[in-house]
Amino acid sequence: MADMSGLKGVILAGGLGKRLEPLTRITNKHLLPIYNKPMVYYPLETLVEAGIKDIMIVTGGNNAGDFLRLIGNGQEFGLRHINYTYQRGEGGIAEALRLAEHFVDGSKVVVILGDNLIGCSIKKYVEKFLKQEKGARVLLKEVKDPERFGVAEIKDGKILSIEEKPKKPKSKYAVTGIYMYDYRVFDIAKTLKPSERGELEITDVNNFYLKRGELYYDTLSGWWTDCGLPETLYRAATLARRKALNDK
Ligand code: G1P
Repeated sequence: MADMSGLKGVILAGGLGKRLEPLTRITNKHLLPIYNKPMVYYPLETLVEAGIKDIMIVTGGNNAGDFLRLIGNGQEFGLRHINYTYQRGEGGIAEALRLAEHFVDGSKVVVILGDNLIGCSIKKYVEKFLKQEKGARVLLKEVKDPERFGVAEIKDGKILSIEEKPKKPKSKYAVTGIYMYDYRVFDIAKTLKPSERGELEITDVNNFYLKRGELYYDTLSGWWTDCGLPETLYRAATLARRKALNDK
C-alpha cells in the first residue's frame, strides 16, 4: 500500500450557498442534511476512507462554529485531530485553498469541495497521484449539464483545455471538485486574478498545470454530484440513501 503519511487533505466548506436560499440563510450549506448525515460528513468520509488522516476544514459564512460542535476532533471518523480555518466572504475556491497553505506546508494535498458527494472510493486515484513525480490530478465525470461546471476537452487520453462554465461546452466531462496538487499549488494560487464572478477560480489553477503538461486525470465510473442547487441537493440525498441502504 502507498504511504499516505505525508499527504494532507483539505475540505473547502465556506461560501454563502446563495443558490440554496432560504435553506442557507441561517446555517452553512455544508451542514444541511443529506439523507441521514450532514453534508460535510460525506467529503470527510471520502478522504478518511482513502487513507488520509491529516485533514483541514476551511469554513466560513454562517454558523462556522457549528462545525466544531458537530465534528469536534474527528474521533467519530477515526481521526485523532482535525484542523479548522475560517474564510471571510466569498472569494472563490482557490482563495479558500490559500488559507490552508501553512497547514499543507510543502506536502502533496488532496482538496475536496464540501458539497461534492461520490459513490466510489478515491483511494486508487490518490495512489496514482502519489506515484506522480509532480503536478496535479483531477477526476472527471460525464454529465448531462456540463455548462454548470469546469469542462475538460479530452483527446487521445490527454486534457487539451478546461473551461469554467462554458456556454458551449467542448465535451460532457465535468471536472469534479476533487483535486490533487503538489506543493506548488499555493504559489500558483497567488498569481491568479479574479474571474468575471469576482472569484479566484480553481479552473485557472488546473490550467496552469495543464499548460506545463503536468495535469493528469482519471474518469469516474460511479456516481458523483454536487449539492449547490435545490435539484442537486435532492439528487444527492437520493444517491446517498441508495448507497447507505446498499452498504447495509
Ligand atoms: C466549482 C468549480 C467547477 C467544478 C465544480 C464541481 O463550481 O468552479 O470547476 O466543476 O465546483 O462541483 P461552483 O460550485 O463554484 O459553481
